[in-house]
Amino acid sequence: MNYNLLKGKRGIISGALDSNSIAWKVAERAHAEGAVFTLTNAPVAMRMGEIKKLAESCNAEVIGADATSITDIENLFSKSQEVLGGKIDFVLHSIGMSPNLRKNLPYTDLNYDFYVKSLDVSAMSLHKMMTVAMKQDALNEWASVVALSYIAAQRTYSFYGDMADAKAMLESVARSFGFHYGKAKKVRINTVSQSPTKTTAGSGIKGFDNFYDFADKLSPLGNASADACADYCITLFSDLTRMVTMQNLFHDGGYSTTGISEDVWKLF
Ligand SMILES: NC(=O)c1ccc[n+]([C@@H]2O[C@H](COP(=O)([O-])OP(=O)(O)OC[C@H]3O[C@@H](n4cnc5c(N)ncnc54)[C@H](O)[C@@H]3O)[C@@H](O)[C@H]2O)c1
Repeated sequence: MNYNLLKGKRGIISGALDSNSIAWKVAERAHAEGAVFTLTNAPVAMRMGEIKKLAESCNAEVIGADATSITDIENLFSKSQEVLGGKIDFVLHSIGMSPNLRKNLPYTDLNYDFYVKSLDVSAMSLHKMMTVAMKQDALNEWASVVALSYIAAQRTYSFYGDMADAKAMLESVARSFGFHYGKAKKVRINTVSQSPTKTTAGSGIKGFDNFYDFADKLSPLGNASADACADYCITLFSDLTRMVTMQNLFHDGGYSTTGISEDVWKLF
């Protein structure tokens, strides 16, 4: 069901790698809700070609940008405004990557160059995007920015490595920048803390399948799907949530406030 919630709005959507990506679902929903937007991803991810299919189906232009490069982000925001014909109303930050996790390095013995890279790609990139947007005055008043997070920012998940630190930083950047951008331009910035989801980034985490099943059994509503996450992001981009900012919003079927469930209990 479509509600025209984003009719007349212009956006930038990062992180659509393939049809499993959360950002892919957000793009499809945003298109169905009447938005126009540009798609962006790291140049290396775009060479895989999948994003072109999404771009065609959503009538969107693709603008390559490494989220760690200020020059690339400047080009992303200026080109997006040019292509879409005005300032931006919503931004999705759906970017995460840890070289330490990729190489299976334990949290207690990280490669520090990789650690810096994890933080830069997965968290500082939000700060960089907001700084560029502010300098270019690229966002309309009441624009909405959403970044995707995970509960390892608040609680320890032994297998989540340095991504836990990146998510804690991401949520903090959303709060701090949310304050300053809110004061300056009424721009709101939130993070959505999503259930484990079967995507390339998700499945890259060791033991992901077991953990996915555990979370599914613990949550009274089960794990939230990527499609449901997209629905939630659309509500946050819409004018119906104008006074929500600087929040970390759990989108997890009740997982974050459940202690134990009988389904999990029975397994022991
Ligand atoms: N999958 C899960 O279980 C889960 C749960 C909670 C939160 N998240 C978060 O959701 C977001 C999207 O991940 P996903 O699960 O859809 O996986 P995904 O692998 O489809 O998306 C991650 C994206 O980050 C992009 N990226 C990596 N390095 C980049 C760079 N330098 N510049 C620009 N883009 C870069 C990748 O190309 C990819 O498109 C991430 O922040 C992830 O941490 C995922």
